[in-house]
Amino acid sequence: MYKVLLLGSGGRECAISWKLSQSPLLEKLYIAPGNAGTSAYGTNIAVKPTDFPAVAKAVADLGIDLVIAGNEDPLVEGVREYLAQAAPGVLVVGPGKVGAALEGSKDFAKHFMARYGIPTARYMTVNADNVAEGEAFLDTLAAPYVLKADGLAAGKGVLIISDLAEAKASLREMLGGKFGKASAKVVIEEFLSGIECSVFVLTDGTGQYRLLPPAKDYKRIGEGDTGLNTGGMGAVCPPPFCTDEFMAKVEERIVRPTLSGLKAEGIDYRGFIFLGLIDCGGEPMVIEYNVRMGDPETEAVMPRIASDLLPTLVALAKGNINEAAPLEIDPRACVTVMAVAGGYPEAYRKGDEITGNLQPAKSIVFHAGTTADAEGHILTAGGRVLTVSSLAPTIAEAAALSYEALADIHFADKYSRRDIAHEFIG
Ligand code: AMP
Ligand code: GLY
Repeated sequence: MYKVLLLGSGGRECAISWKLSQSPLLEKLYIAPGNAGTSAYGTNIAVKPTDFPAVAKAVADLGIDLVIAGNEDPLVEGVREYLAQAAPGVLVVGPGKVGAALEGSKDFAKHFMARYGIPTARYMTVNADNVAEGEAFLDTLAAPYVLKADGLAAGKGVLIISDLAEAKASLREMLGGKFGKASAKVVIEEFLSGIECSVFVLTDGTGQYRLLPPAKDYKRIGEGDTGLNTGGMGAVCPPPFCTDEFMAKVEERIVRPTLSGLKAEGIDYRGFIFLGLIDCGGEPMVIEYNVRMGDPETEAVMPRIASDLLPTLVALAKGNINEAAPLEIDPRACVTVMAVAGGYPEAYRKGDEITGNLQPAKSIVFHAGTTADAEGHILTAGGRVLTVSSLAPTIAEAAALSYEALADIHFADKYSRRDIAHEFIG
């Protein structure tokens, strides 16, 4: 039996909590800090994931056996290393600081891919000392131009610019501090066109791994993939273009070389690897690595895991994932549709009461930005408020169920895209 502490507070953590709460091996689940939805599956504790002394104290006081990092910030800042000192013996799902640089530094990730021949866009890293070379590299590329802040920039650090002069000006602005320290280095990339998908690898540091079913998310706020980028407005699992043939290429060209590269560099990576991929005419290329699960992809992936996930996470953290039985995957499709607060992804409303049916019979509501007040009312507390996931034999039926359940949930200025998964519906 395991006492588990999950770090994070979004829809992803709500979906992971929901899944873990069904495990017969779970003794107790704590979520730090969690949201109004996670409290149905475990106990929320008022601890910030990046406040490492407070995390270590919670591990000791609550007798935690396993810590799962939901989001990247604590990993990039070194929570694994901190706990290894302050709470020796506790199992951790999530890489150490060096492994987390796969997400925390685009420059590190691109060099890593280059070293191991992993297919990705051509690139050059530029800093204040080689701006002229950076501009010359831009001259060799065709529009549009992709500029990426090296460090974490809250999902906003990637610019795609169609005009060359504007790209050069933006390069200088980024190096001048447009994204603070995160853009002291900028990765310039060749633009790749194709359809994007997310592949999730669970690995234990030895090169052994398990794949979760792939998913596709919808990043733009507007229907037809228009408007500003968001954290994600919905997801479908699996996307039909991720065929067995495509996934075999992903394993052979990307997953295995990534894991053997990590091993070759002495990086004991125990956690999730999220491959942000683009399907370029049937050939998978890596857009980015993340060191956590995707959000809202998790909300479409977790409902499809039919067997217990906890033994896999424990075995992964112990360094022998193959000790756990293979995961069983539900053959049905899952579609999740996010409801966001008016104004998101710019300044948005908060504190509006959420009413309606939050426990629909045929769907699951995962809370993202919600909180409960003293009287137990559920209030909006974030840009992405909640997401509704449904399983069904077809994507069309799953989407229809999610939209039906979403129509019964109300808060002021609620907004959702109406076209999630629509391109896969006949
Ligand atoms: P990233 O933060 O690296 O995932 O980039 C954010 C988004 O920018 C991705 O999800 C893609 O839609 C887009 N993007 C990033 N790199 C490229 C590229 N080389 N070619 C085309 N689109 C890209
Ligand atoms: N949905 C994309 C991400 O989690 O980064």
